[in-house]
Amino acid sequence: MTTDVKRVALLGATGSIGEQALEVIDAHPYLEVCALASGSQPLDELAAAHGVEHVQVGGDLTRVLEASEPDLVLNAVVGFAGVGTTLWALERGVTLALANKESLVAAGDLAVAAWKRGGGLLLPVDSEHSAVFQCLEGRDRGTVDSLVLTASGGPFRNRSLPELESVTVEEALAHPTWSMGPKITVDSATLANKGLELIEAHYLFGLEYEKIEVVVHPTSVVHALVRFRDGAALAHLGHPDMRVPISYALTYPKREATPVPQLDLAAGLTLEFGAPDPERFPLLRLAREAGEKGGTFPCAFNAANEIAVGAFLEGRIGFLEIAPLVEDALARVDGAPANDLPELVEADAEARRLAGGRLAPV
Ligand SMILES: NC(=O)c1ccc[n+]([C@@H]2O[C@H](COP(=O)([O-])OP(=O)(O)OC[C@H]3O[C@@H](n4cnc5c(N)ncnc54)[C@H](OP(=O)(O)O)[C@@H]3O)[C@@H](O)[C@H]2O)c1
Repeated sequence: MTTDVKRVALLGATGSIGEQALEVIDAHPYLEVCALASGSQPLDELAAAHGVEHVQVGGDLTRVLEASEPDLVLNAVVGFAGVGTTLWALERGVTLALANKESLVAAGDLAVAAWKRGGGLLLPVDSEHSAVFQCLEGRDRGTVDSLVLTASGGPFRNRSLPELESVTVEEALAHPTWSMGPKITVDSATLANKGLELIEAHYLFGLEYEKIEVVVHPTSVVHALVRFRDGAALAHLGHPDMRVPISYALTYPKREATPVPQLDLAAGLTLEFGAPDPERFPLLRLAREAGEKGGTFPCAFNAANEIAVGAFLEGRIGFLEIAPLVEDALARVDGAPANDLPELVEADAEARRLAGGRLAPV
């Protein structure tokens, strides 16, 4: 039996997701990289190794998509920089494997409208959303009660507020269960990542915020649950390894094998869950509020958070100053809905200006 070649445009090829995606692609001859893109790192070696003609470093990455005509776009760029390519794929009905959650959070209604017009597949790569997607497959949406997204709680789950005051960048970058790029690792430590995922889940699955719960689950074995109206809940379990959701999205609907081992339940597995602490991790609440307000509030949440995380990584602000910076920016934006991409870009820029304006000059 022959398998049709799937031409993959890999955006964010030099990152953590990008590298793991290349490993998955290399394991399946029918997956072919047709385009590679990064923000600033050169791609010549990678392009030569994979025989890729279309390459782009920085700038408007929709150009490399236009040139390469992919069957699937894996958007693994970090941050708002991924918005243009997410909208490009959704508008054209080109299958989008989405790791870049920030683009769906920021573009929100615009992205959903483009997705409806394009009519293509949107396959989540975020492990929690991939888990929800799989638990929902083939189910009648009317039977769904609610979703539960799990959060590891990050490296500071057990630290008190005074202890959080002095955490270092190195400590924030040492995630207990997942190995990821620096921005998402800090977002995991503040729980902003779970806030972004909450908004992402709202747009992906069309559920109201009150039907999406976040629970802390330190070992990250259960990735998400879907509760149904009869009292049953379906959960998705596995080792925390991004190659599983990446492979699921890239090989969909085949669910190809991966090198990730099975869970050894007989060896003993304790599953612990608890409520996130809103006092120590206010960004989750701020994300929920921004999501519920709608308009460009989620875009502003994301933009201010990107500025704050950048400032933390540069040592310009402390860990506990990230959330107030975001809260302050959210209080000052108008949050009016964006009618098109230029308006969205303006809303993003405004929130960045407001958050950046509160930082002490370097
Ligand atoms: N890592 C994970 O386990 C994980 C899990 C779930 C979701 N995600 C999501 O996946 C996305 C990527 O995360 P990551 O951990 O792979 O990040 P990462 O390791 O920091 O990699 C980011 C990638 O984006 C590229 N990039 C940065 N700025 C860009 C720009 N302005 N234009 C074009 N490309 C740009 C980088 O290129 P350069 O190397 O040239 O800077 C790099 O290839 C994020 O949205 C994250 O939230 C990640």
